[in-house]
Amino acid sequence: MSILQIVKYGNPTLTKKAEEIINLDKYIERLAHNMVQTMYAAPGIGLAAPQVNESKRLITVDLSVGENSQNLIILINPELISQEGKLTSEEGCLSVPDINEKVARPSRVIIRGIDLKGNEKTVEAEGLLARVFCHEIDHINGKLFIDHLSLLKKSLIKKKLRKTVQIGKI
Ligand code: NI
Repeated sequence: MSILQIVKYGNPTLTKKAEEIINLDKYIERLAHNMVQTMYAAPGIGLAAPQVNESKRLITVDLSVGENSQNLIILINPELISQEGKLTSEEGCLSVPDINEKVARPSRVIIRGIDLKGNEKTVEAEGLLARVFCHEIDHINGKLFIDHLSLLKKSLIKKKLRKTVQIGKI
C-alpha cells in the first residue's frame, strides 16, 4: 500500500465528472486501499478518487480517521438517493488548502453504492457524516465545496488560491 499525492485546486481532474466503475478489479481494489492510507495520512475524514488524480467514481469516508475500523466506508459509484433538512457548518477540503467556509448541506441523507466485495450497500447518514458524503459525491461530479458559495465569495477565494499556486505554496 502506498500514500498517493493529493492534487490541489487548479488540477483539471478536480473539475471533471468522474467515470463510473464498471469492473471491480485488482486495480480498483488497490486504488481504494491506497486512498484509505492517503486519507489517514493527510489526515482527512473523506477522500474522492479525483483528489488523487483518478477520474473514477470511488470515495472513502472515515469520521474516526482510522481509530475505529468499523467507521471506514468505501463506496464505488455512490449515489445520493434521498436527502432532508439543512445544516450550515464550516467545511474544508484537502484539495483546497487553507480555506474554510460555511456551507449548507442536507442534515440527513441516504447513499447507495457498491462495496469492495461487489455488494450493493445503502448508508443512512446525518450531521457531519451526511456532510462528508455530499462533499465526496460533489467531488466525483467535478464540484468543489467553494462552488456552493456566493459568486463574490468564490471569486475572492479563487484570487487567493491562484496567488498561493503562483508563489508555489501548493
Ligand atoms: Ni474535498
